[in-house]
Amino acid sequence: MCNNVKELEGRVALVSGASRGIGRAIALKLAEHGARVAVNARALENAGKVAAEIEQMGGEAIALEADVKDGRAVKEMFGEVTGRWEKVDILVNNAGINRDTLLLKMSDEVWGDVIETNLTGAYNCTKMALRSMMKLRWGRIISIASIAGLMGNAGQANYSASKAGLIAFTRSVAKEVGSLNITANAIAPGFIVTDMTDRVPEEMKQAILKMTPLGRYGQPEEVAELAAFLAGDKASYISGQVIAIDGGIT
Ligand code: NAI
Repeated sequence: MCNNVKELEGRVALVSGASRGIGRAIALKLAEHGARVAVNARALENAGKVAAEIEQMGGEAIALEADVKDGRAVKEMFGEVTGRWEKVDILVNNAGINRDTLLLKMSDEVWGDVIETNLTGAYNCTKMALRSMMKLRWGRIISIASIAGLMGNAGQANYSASKAGLIAFTRSVAKEVGSLNITANAIAPGFIVTDMTDRVPEEMKQAILKMTPLGRYGQPEEVAELAAFLAGDKASYISGQVIAIDGGIT
């Protein structure tokens, strides 16, 4: 391959929850590799900022407002992408929240919010993305899970269950659509420096650091590198996997 051909040239990617943190880093990285990127966020203004960053880099992007919990909004969002670019080749299910509390104190609302966003959100987006991928007979579904979905975590029964669900969802989708040349993989990050982990109490941060063989937290860009690899042709035979990126914790 000629060196100046970007690996994801010609591909269309949608990244959910891409206004900041890991999602933003993934959106920028996919664009750097040549993909046209649909940047999703709950607020159009926030998605617009990342889309503008991509355009400043010389890439192509559109900003799309949708709450991934809302199936109808997700359908409209995919309609906008296919209306503009005709297809979706790469879906990154990144949108996610945590609302940490011990199980005995957890309200139904806090349980439901996390499951609906992290798991139902991925269900809504994946179902829509598959329509396009099935026609193309090519697709990449990358879901951002968590090591909490592998190990569990006190105070995160809702979050851990949603991420374990996302992992099982990924494995099932991989089995359903593999024959169509569509891969589905999950990334399970450890502690990555973002707004989400900014709220973690200092004591807990230190405990996590002690458990981490590499002796530091991860950066969103490190997760983005892995996502970009899984999105490309070099990852063509990897499917149904959960890849931890956690400095060696698991
Ligand atoms: P963040 O809080 O900085 O970003 C989350 C993004 O998702 C935001 O842009 C937010 O607006 C968006 N979002 C939330 N609910 C949404 C909804 N209903 N519809 C559309 N967008 C929505 O968090 P961070 O750290 O960047 O997290 C990204 C993903 O990585 C999440 O799924 C999170 O669970 C996962 N993760 C993060 C880890 C970390 O240490 N930061 C570790 C393991 C997993």
